[in-house]
Amino acid sequence: MYRITVLVSGGGTNLQAIMDAIADGRITDTEIACVISNNRDAYALTRAYDAGIPACVVSRADHPHRDEYDAALTRAVVDTGADLVVLAGFLVKIPPAMIREFKNRIINIHPSLIPSFCGVGFYGLKVHEAALARGVRLTGATVHVVDEDTDTGPILLQKAVEIQPGDTPEVLQRRVMEQAEWKLLPQAIDMLAHGRIEISDEGQVTFL
Ligand code: GRF
Repeated sequence: MYRITVLVSGGGTNLQAIMDAIADGRITDTEIACVISNNRDAYALTRAYDAGIPACVVSRADHPHRDEYDAALTRAVVDTGADLVVLAGFLVKIPPAMIREFKNRIINIHPSLIPSFCGVGFYGLKVHEAALARGVRLTGATVHVVDEDTDTGPILLQKAVEIQPGDTPEVLQRRVMEQAEWKLLPQAIDMLAHGRIEISDEGQVTFL
């Protein structure tokens, strides 16, 4: 079994999409080893508990020093024995030690077509506000490998979503989730689980 550990901070609809895809066979030979949150109140944790998936909290409040927090988070993830770490709405910068430990084995879902509307400060509704403010006609979602910087790692999968007249950030966010994120993230996990995506040390992505 391929083991994934999912890191979450909020509502967990992407976690739900992964659980649903495992349940209905769009992701095979894969189990969620653990769900880890920085936020005790994340609804994503309730989704995990309800599904009987091990879950734990590594909260910044319990680790006043950043180095301590980074070490605790890295240890928690390593202890799950994950083959792949999936960031599904995780709003904490990934410690360099974890990136080294899981080189090319941490992926993130970002709600835009990278390199547009990404990087520091582009998270949640802010991404969609920026896309609407710029007046783009297409946005979408990207699954990428996590490296030391924000949203700069190798791109694995992307899917475009049309912007409609009268869209608000909330409406657009929902459409991007429904049409792109909830499909793309399970697809990427299944491909990685079956060795259908190869990432070289230089970050070159090959589909097999
Ligand atoms: C999603 O839009 C995802 O792309 C971004 O954070 C949001 C998380 O939503 N990284 P949810 O917690 O999965 O519902």
